[in-house]
Amino acid sequence: MARKFFVGGNFKMNGTIESIKGIVKNLNDAKLDPNTEVVIAPPALYLLLVREHLKNGIEVAAQNVFDKPNGAFTGEISVSQLKDSGINWTILGHSERRTILGESDKVVASKTKFATEGGISVIWCCGESLEDREAGKTIEVIEKQLAAVSPKIGDWKKVVIAYEPIWAIGTGKVATVQQAQEVHAAIRKWLKANVSETVAAETRILYGGSVNGKNCKELAKEEDIDGFLVGGASLKPEFVDIINASQ
Ligand code: 13P
Repeated sequence: MARKFFVGGNFKMNGTIESIKGIVKNLNDAKLDPNTEVVIAPPALYLLLVREHLKNGIEVAAQNVFDKPNGAFTGEISVSQLKDSGINWTILGHSERRTILGESDKVVASKTKFATEGGISVIWCCGESLEDREAGKTIEVIEKQLAAVSPKIGDWKKVVIAYEPIWAIGTGKVATVQQAQEVHAAIRKWLKANVSETVAAETRILYGGSVNGKNCKELAKEEDIDGFLVGGASLKPEFVDIINASQ
């Protein structure tokens, strides 16, 4: 089965009602490759606004979700609340949540289980720090992150993996095509050995880290790069070029 190209836009903690409406209008008016699945993740406060204005066929993602059904969890949002609002995706395990908010592999795995079992699809992120890479530990770190989440996933059709080297996020320092392809291939190899051949063949593996309108086409040509998770450039008109990168 061919893997459908997938492009996610992670707005992070950026935007206003006005600017986000502008991004939505730009996407609604653009000619987007029908062979690309597009999901955008605005800050939680704007999820409903985006869902209301965005055209059908583009999905909306939260940037996080909690792993309890409901109750006294101040500041958190539940899986059922996302579903109630027409939000069918969430990002989980982003390095900014792992490093700044202290989310462990275990917490990320638990949230991934809760989301997928509750019917929400997950853009699950992994990636190494510069220190890990320089110590030659890139694959080891990614495999540890995969090993923590994998037993919690019952339905891999509800998961796309985003490989985001921390040193490439927001730095303008994109991984080389070879560096990205090498890690993507290692992830697929790990899935084949530890989950199944089918899951390895069918799971989309996205690259994230300083993707822009200029570097996306070359990255998109690689065999194991099935799309992108885009930060800064998802706020700009060039996001459309990234969506259309595999054309
Ligand atoms: P940038 O594209 O801004 O480097 O961010 C990548 C990212 O973290 C997407 O989740």
